[in-house]
Amino acid sequence: MLAAKTELRHIEMVKQFLIKNNLLHPDLLPVKEFDSFYFPLQKRVQVPMTTVLSVKFDFPHKVKAKTADDLLKEKLSAEEFKIMPRSQEVVGNILILEIPEELRKKEKIIAEAYLQANKRLETVVKKEQMHEGVYRTRKVKILAGKMSKETVHLENGIRLKLHLEKTYFSARSAGERLRIARLVKKGENVLVMFSGAGPYPLVLAKNSRAEHICGIEINPVAHALAVENVELNCLGKKITLYDGDVREILPPIKKKFERIIMPLPKTGEEFLGLALSKIKPKGIIHLYSFLMENEFKSYESKIKELCRKEKRKVKIIRMVKCGQFSPSKFRVCWDLKVE
Ligand SMILES: C[S@@+](CC[C@H](N)C(=O)[O-])C[C@H]1O[C@@H](n2cnc3c(N)ncnc32)[C@H](O)[C@@H]1O
Repeated sequence: MLAAKTELRHIEMVKQFLIKNNLLHPDLLPVKEFDSFYFPLQKRVQVPMTTVLSVKFDFPHKVKAKTADDLLKEKLSAEEFKIMPRSQEVVGNILILEIPEELRKKEKIIAEAYLQANKRLETVVKKEQMHEGVYRTRKVKILAGKMSKETVHLENGIRLKLHLEKTYFSARSAGERLRIARLVKKGENVLVMFSGAGPYPLVLAKNSRAEHICGIEINPVAHALAVENVELNCLGKKITLYDGDVREILPPIKKKFERIIMPLPKTGEEFLGLALSKIKPKGIIHLYSFLMENEFKSYESKIKELCRKEKRKVKIIRMVKCGQFSPSKFRVCWDLKVE
């Protein structure tokens, strides 16, 4: 085995040189013998302050931290391991598991494995149901760790205080929020119709040159969290939040907007007429929907029909798939330009 032998007083300098030049053996640990120190090498090269030589002894192997998959393989049968969903959602320091019915009896063991493997996690929960109701909330069950459903999530340069059951939130939409922020032009006034705990208003305020952003949210707990989050991120000058139903809050607001975001995929189109009444000429509306792939065409016709009824000319600039629920069901954003 190749090694770089050095005196104890040179250890730190030699170590830095070996790391910088990627010469250390990745799986082996150095050894101290009397007054000398031996670094295991990947290849024979000259190393300052050392003698490079072949040694007869074995270097100890590094003990690698076990991943969640390593631990799950130990605790589940091969069949059980195969049906565990591979991609999981992390919100702040809470992991949200989707556990198949067949593994219900092993859910705590599975949760402990994730907790043990990932030091950043404090709590592991599982989804108990799909998002439902007007507030689009859902129940989760704590399986392991700290008994808390509240956390602070970091996304696109902002911090969001969230409660997993009291407000809707999806960490998976972070990329989509940044996409919208990058479309916002300097000086725009933006309306977020269903603002929840504030992710869209905050990501836009932080990552765009929008003049001002309004958010409207019907769930009072989500609204209160959004107000807290605006303060937490010191973005109060750029954001105004309203608590209530857009159908009541929006009509009396005199202002019109260059851009309106409608993140209510379940029933968003029901509010398209209202959005059209508040968009400026040449403004952009981002309308979200849940659709099967074979429904894209008919939904496009539905949008056009709704706009016709409102007597507004609208061009569909693009349709973006921004989430996937099953092989053929997607969360889709329709970017609409209103004449
Ligand atoms: C899918 S969630 C999106 C929340 C947030 N924009 C986000 O991305 O995390 C939809 C939100 O719309 C709110 N909502 C539903 N109907 C509403 C209405 N008529 N007026 C205002 N908010 C509404 C719900 O309470 C929920 O918080």
